[in-house]
Amino acid sequence: MTEASSTGKGTAVVTGATRGIGRELARLFAATGHDVALVARTESDLAETAAEFRDRFGVETETVAADLTEPEAPERVQAATAERDVTALVNNAGYAAAGRLDAADREETLGMVGLKARAATELTRRYLPELRAGPREGRLLTVASASAFVPGPRNAVYHAVNSYGLALSESLAAELDGEDVTVTCLCPGPVDTDFHERAGTDERERSPVPTPAMEPRAVARAGFRGLRRGETVVVPGLSMRLLTALARLTPRPLARRVMRYYNRGL
Ligand SMILES: NC(=O)c1ccc[n+]([C@@H]2O[C@H](COP(=O)([O-])OP(=O)(O)OC[C@H]3O[C@@H](n4cnc5c(N)ncnc54)[C@H](OP(=O)(O)O)[C@@H]3O)[C@@H](O)[C@H]2O)c1
Repeated sequence: MTEASSTGKGTAVVTGATRGIGRELARLFAATGHDVALVARTESDLAETAAEFRDRFGVETETVAADLTEPEAPERVQAATAERDVTALVNNAGYAAAGRLDAADREETLGMVGLKARAATELTRRYLPELRAGPREGRLLTVASASAFVPGPRNAVYHAVNSYGLALSESLAAELDGEDVTVTCLCPGPVDTDFHERAGTDERERSPVPTPAMEPRAVARAGFRGLRRGETVVVPGLSMRLLTALARLTPRPLARRVMRYYNRGL
């Protein structure tokens, strides 16, 4: 459903745009004069978010109610924005379901792969020609997690899909170097959102080194700043930057042992 008047900066397509980090990223695009196409499952949340952005920022909004774990959903999202000048894609939608792989719910487990790996890849593949070809620099932003940098026993699929997002982003950044599109991967540590209720673990209370949970607005701002600067990997917050730098220097066998101890309660 399309509403209101265009501003000329093109449209940012944002998945998971109704809550948490995605909503704050969509807000930043709208606040800087982009029209926004908002994707999530819950129609009432989409309508409320779109109304707020139209009223506050005077931008056009498109809402697409889609479950991105369904394989045909990315095609529907693209069809809904076919008349638009899409200048940014934000692959943000995601959730975590912790626990041993052989004990975890099948749908929840495969849903994480469907959302954070399959749908993100399919949306990127579909929008990339448009992001590269437009008169303005295209922006591709993927929200992964600091978990991308370490193995995650008892949370294996969540860590794996975030590692996938990071690897895909870094590979595409190199593949597209010199072209008119920037590729950024946002890798936050704990963020104060509803995400933790569904995850069944509260990352905010489980950090191996105490790291305060960040507000979604601060995380989104860091990602948006990084995207505008064309940075490939953005880790918001000094303590998480230090932790992830340490993680990258730690020998993998040691990282596996530390994370096995850290995640023992999941
Ligand atoms: N919160 C953290 O501590 C944290 C830390 C690091 C990384 N991250 C990453 O940041 C991203 C956003 O997390 P968040 O904490 O902001 O989450 P959140 O507050 O739970 O919001 C999730 C958003 O995604 C949408 N969504 C969920 N499942 C979907 C589906 N199947 N299809 C389409 N949309 C769907 C939700 O709307 P509907 O429910 O209406 O679909 C909502 O708009 C995720 O990729 C997460 O892995 C989060």
